[in-house]
Amino acid sequence: MALNLNAVGQKLGPLTKSYTWKDVILYALGVGAGENDLRYCYENGLKVIPSFSIASIFPVLAEIGVKSNINLAGTLHGEQELIFHRPIPTEGTMTTKGRISHIYDKGPGKGALIIGESDTFDAGGKKLFTSICTVFGRLDGGFGGENAPKSEVHFPERKPDFTVEAQPASNQALLYRLSGDLFTLHVDPAFARMAGFEKPIMHGLCTHGYACRALCDHLIPDAPDKARRMACRFSKPLYPGVPIKTLIWKVGEGKALWRVINAQTGDTVIDNGIFEYGDPAAHTIRFDGRVAIVTGAGGGLGRAYALELARRGAKVVVNDLGGATDGSGTGSAAPADLVVAEIRAQGGQAVANYDNVATAAGGEAMVAAALKHFGKLDILINNAGILRDKSFVKMEPENWRAVLAVHLNGAYNVSRPAFAAMRENKYGRILMTTSAAGLYGNFGQTNYSAAKAGLVGLMNTMKLEGDKHNIKVNTIAPLAASRLTEGIIPPEMFAKMKPEYAVPMALFLCSEACPVNGNIYNAGMGFFNRAAVVTGKGAVPTKDGRVPMVEEIRDAMEEIASLKGEKLYGQLPEQLMDVVESLKSKV
Ligand code: NAI
Repeated sequence: MALNLNAVGQKLGPLTKSYTWKDVILYALGVGAGENDLRYCYENGLKVIPSFSIASIFPVLAEIGVKSNINLAGTLHGEQELIFHRPIPTEGTMTTKGRISHIYDKGPGKGALIIGESDTFDAGGKKLFTSICTVFGRLDGGFGGENAPKSEVHFPERKPDFTVEAQPASNQALLYRLSGDLFTLHVDPAFARMAGFEKPIMHGLCTHGYACRALCDHLIPDAPDKARRMACRFSKPLYPGVPIKTLIWKVGEGKALWRVINAQTGDTVIDNGIFEYGDPAAHTIRFDGRVAIVTGAGGGLGRAYALELARRGAKVVVNDLGGATDGSGTGSAAPADLVVAEIRAQGGQAVANYDNVATAAGGEAMVAAALKHFGKLDILINNAGILRDKSFVKMEPENWRAVLAVHLNGAYNVSRPAFAAMRENKYGRILMTTSAAGLYGNFGQTNYSAAKAGLVGLMNTMKLEGDKHNIKVNTIAPLAASRLTEGIIPPEMFAKMKPEYAVPMALFLCSEACPVNGNIYNAGMGFFNRAAVVTGKGAVPTKDGRVPMVEEIRDAMEEIASLKGEKLYGQLPEQLMDVVESLKSKV
């Protein structure tokens, strides 16, 4: 029977499960905890190993197989990502809801990948953790579908910071399965032989539990609640009773890479491991599982945005054409490549893109790169920019057009395909970059001011069209020392204007937590405020409905121009309604 390709989009769960401290301890014993790990094995002062989360929602994982109609004899757990939002209680009731998000084809004889994403909530409706599970159907490839986007983890070329040895027992799988994964492959010798193994194999998630203990013990001792994200790929089977080593490299603040090897053969059994830890995730704004494009990210503000997005878990497409400040030159891959290397060195995921935002094809290629490498797009920061300053009469058409092409057309070119991809996913955050020059004016920058003010207009309508698709569009007016502002900002101020000061506002507006849509914020040097178009109460100079005379405008000018009692409108009809109301009361 073939895979059910219509399963994409089908719901997983809801699954509701109540559990007690005994389930927590049974799991701990199943992943090798013992008398040296009483915090996981004794109800007095009990702590929960974070990977207990995935074992406790096993029926949801099984549902991925059933709904996609995968060939059971070839089914293996491919990859697992867990994002921890809140500490997992030692007892309680959890409800899990999710959906099958993708089915990928690795090709004939190479298998298929079925991805199930789910969120698990406590009895009060608070999100505890997110699971992104990839089930590998060894026998289901070759149906002519798309291949999965490649995701690579770049391990440092040095010895691990920790090597943690462990000896799973020969009956480990028999103990582990009592936590819920009753799949026959791990208990029934005849089924295991049919599936091509000598005997029943360890559950990948059992070895994963060993790794989770090792990671917690060495990186967040006695504080497993500080685990924030754990991701990995199951790469080779392991038989119960075979000793293992978990190798851990610390990379950057709160992040480690890891893998588990078979200590007898040296084979990697779990690869591409990522572990992130720190303060409870509920208080931290994270971008795990999110995919972002930052245009013009080879330097200045864009680089700072890209680095922080990646540090907080996003996968980033680092776009930069690599031209001169005035947009001249043929471009260079170097700036984008350098930022990608910086992100990878801190353990993050990024790919470089050198397309030109000033063309529609460039915008499309950039979005296609996000989909190809990371499977979706959640965030777009329209940041690329150039300057060609001249006083107005000297502003030749060429300089006018070049600046509008990058800033205003650039945002249109990238946002349009991005918006389409986000609409598919029912989630998106788009950030426009305006400037004080556009909001308030700046001598010698007519082209730039026009483009930057145009972006506000673009946002004003995109916010309305995005609203029902959960796409929010906001605008930042940054102020930062960069090559663009080198000649404009006095040197004594330059030092106090690190691009990093604008980053928190940009990232907040791109986060899930962002409460606003269609707003503009100034951000720089540690100062933030809102800018907006406000409208005064106005006046109706004639009482009888006739067309006012020019002199009547002159006489009513004080009232017409007053901003007292000003209003902020969300869209055109609101303003029109007020006009109609004012006429009704005055005429
Ligand atoms: P920057 O020059 O360091 O960064 C702009 C980047 O955009 C460059 O790396 C450049 O190669 C890239 N780029 C230019 N044209 C491109 C194109 N056609 N396609 C792809 N990439 C292209 O400048 P900075 O200061 O970091 O500026 C970032 C954004 O912030 C710009 O939109 C700028 O107008 C805006 N802005 C900056 C202010 C500041 O104080 N630095 C003030 C207000 C706005």
